[in-house]
Amino acid sequence: MASNRTFTMVKPDAVAAGHTGAIIDQIIKSGFKLVAMKYLFLSPEKAGQFYAVHSERPFYKDLVAFMSSGPIVAAILEKDNAIEDYRKLIGATDPTKAEAGTIRNLFAKSIDANAVHGSDSDENAQIEGSFFFSAFEQF
Ligand code: CMP
Repeated sequence: MASNRTFTMVKPDAVAAGHTGAIIDQIIKSGFKLVAMKYLFLSPEKAGQFYAVHSERPFYKDLVAFMSSGPIVAAILEKDNAIEDYRKLIGATDPTKAEAGTIRNLFAKSIDANAVHGSDSDENAQIEGSFFFSAFEQF
C-alpha cells in the first residue's frame, strides 16, 4: 500500500447507532477516496489478532470483547497525507479530548466505543489494510 493510504474501521458502537452513513459521508467530503470497503463481524480471535500489538495493555481484553460485540465496517482510504489528515479528521482517541467537529467528537461514546479506528503510520496502514483485504480487493 502506498504512503497516501490509511486504514479505518467504523466500530460496533457507531454501526449499531446507525452512524455508518454519516461517518462515510464525512470521510468522503473530507477528500478521501474509498479504495476498499467491507461490512463484517469480527470474531474474538480475529479482533485479538488485529489488536495483538496492545496485548500487554490493561484495556486489551475489554477492547477485544467490544470489537467483536457487533458488526463493523472496514475500509482503505486514499488521500495525500492520508495518515495525518485522517487522524485529524477523527480526533483524539479519548472522545472527551477530541476537537469539535471531529468524527469522535460527533459520534463516539467512550475511549473503547470511540466510533472509528485510524492507522497511526504508513507501516501499520499497510499491515491493517492487508489484514482485511487481499491485493485483489484493493484497487
Ligand atoms: P484504536 O485507535 O482503535 O486503537 C486501540 C484502541 O484501544 C483505541 O482506539 C481505543 O478504542 C482503545 N483503548 C481503550 N483504552 C485505551 C487507552 N487507555 N489508550 C489507548 N487506547 C485505548
